Amino acid sequence: MLKLPFTSRPLTRIVCLATFYVATIYLVTACSLPDRKESRLKVVVPPIDFVADEQKGELLYSEYCSACHGPKADGTRQGPPLAHHIYKPNHHSDMHFYKAVQFGTYQHHWRFGNMPPVKGISPPQTGHIIKFIRAKQSTIGLGTAKEH
Ligand code: HEC
Repeated sequence: MLKLPFTSRPLTRIVCLATFYVATIYLVTACSLPDRKESRLKVVVPPIDFVADEQKGELLYSEYCSACHGPKADGTRQGPPLAHHIYKPNHHSDMHFYKAVQFGTYQHHWRFGNMPPVKGISPPQTGHIIKFIRAKQSTIGLGTAKEH
């Protein structure tokens, strides 16, 4: 058996073994634990020259979002109102909207359950929807549509 020079000193040996175990456990855990799911999500946004259109947004919103978030972004029994101070621009940035649409979101602010990802919708289409929602927010005094 390999005999290291310091292994004859019991205390050093214990410290050595303890370090070895801690390091092994750390390595095994670090390698086997998945990253937090969210940190791997890559949110896709529209190109830099994209110009959002509120009217297009309204149509897309009624097709993809209003069943849960209400025709006027005022909420339903399936989902919360988006014209609400929780979702105003300085609290939920546009990025939160792109992310929610692409990946869905876990129930965390309300008790409606999770929001599933919205299939078949592109980042520019989401951009139009955000414009519409920001306009709805601004009509009740939450931020201004111009900000976004
Ligand atoms: C099947 C129902 C459903 C549909 C369809 C849906 N949502 Fe949601 N959405 C929810 C629920 C429920 C929540 C609330 C989750 C919570 O915070 O508890 C939510 C939350 C959100 C949030 C907040 C995310 C966050 O980070 O807190 C945004 C933004 C959002 N929805 C945007 C949209 C848009 C835009 C659409 C349409 C493209 C849409 N949703 C379609 C159910 C839905």
